[in-house]
Amino acid sequence: MSIISDIQQNPLPAHVAIIMDGNGRWAKRQGKERVFGHKHGVESVRAVTEAAAELGIKYLTLYAFSTENWNRPQAEVDALMALLVQAIENETPTLMKNNVRLLTIGDTGRLPDNTRNRLQQCIAQTAGNTGLSLVLALSYSSRWEITRAVKLIAKNVKDGSLNPEDIDEKLVSQTLTTREIPDPDLLIRTSGEQRISNFLMWQLAYSELYFTELCWPEFRKEAFYNAILDYQNRERRYGMTSEQITST
Ligand code: FPP
Repeated sequence: MSIISDIQQNPLPAHVAIIMDGNGRWAKRQGKERVFGHKHGVESVRAVTEAAAELGIKYLTLYAFSTENWNRPQAEVDALMALLVQAIENETPTLMKNNVRLLTIGDTGRLPDNTRNRLQQCIAQTAGNTGLSLVLALSYSSRWEITRAVKLIAKNVKDGSLNPEDIDEKLVSQTLTTREIPDPDLLIRTSGEQRISNFLMWQLAYSELYFTELCWPEFRKEAFYNAILDYQNRERRYGMTSEQITST
């Protein structure tokens, strides 16, 4: 029996972010090439997106390709880009049917033209959808994003349109690529690694962290439900005391 019936509507995380890790190790364990793991990883993307949409989660951000991933062997980079285009082509009708809106964060100018064009088409086609927002972090890293924000803010100070005294946390948040997206409530990382790896470092300040030994290709709906149930048993204090939280 599925554990989905144990999940309550409150507190449901509004935003779940996932570091999808372990595709390569999962494939190697079975004597297969790394790309075999990425292909099965796409199935997990589909399952988890469906689960998030069904539960009524508003934002799901997937770390699909980091700035550092450009340093992988060219054949693997090409295979990942091809898988991404194929997944977008195959899944756009399902995104439409399920009212899912696609967004991206990251330095997407670095993506190959056909990958970027296909993504832009899907983003435009799904722009009016009001259910889950599926955010793909592509060519993304937090240090890239924060450096970009610092440059934008510095330019505004230099041209006199911004007073340094007016720089506050809200302005920094508004200058990040995630400006329209609430901070994640829950971060999941698969494959047993317990690191943030340059992902949403500003935005994760108060997120709950959940680590599982399962590799990404093994992480399907029930595993996602388990993470949500675990989250529902956490007490989020935002620096306050337990008594302060329970009295509000
Ligand atoms: C991590 O496993 C996974 C990635 C770097 C890429 C994830 C990409 C996909 C699942 C396919 C395309 C994505 C979408 C959104 C359709 P790893 O290769 O780092 O595994 P390892 O740590 O075992 O080497």
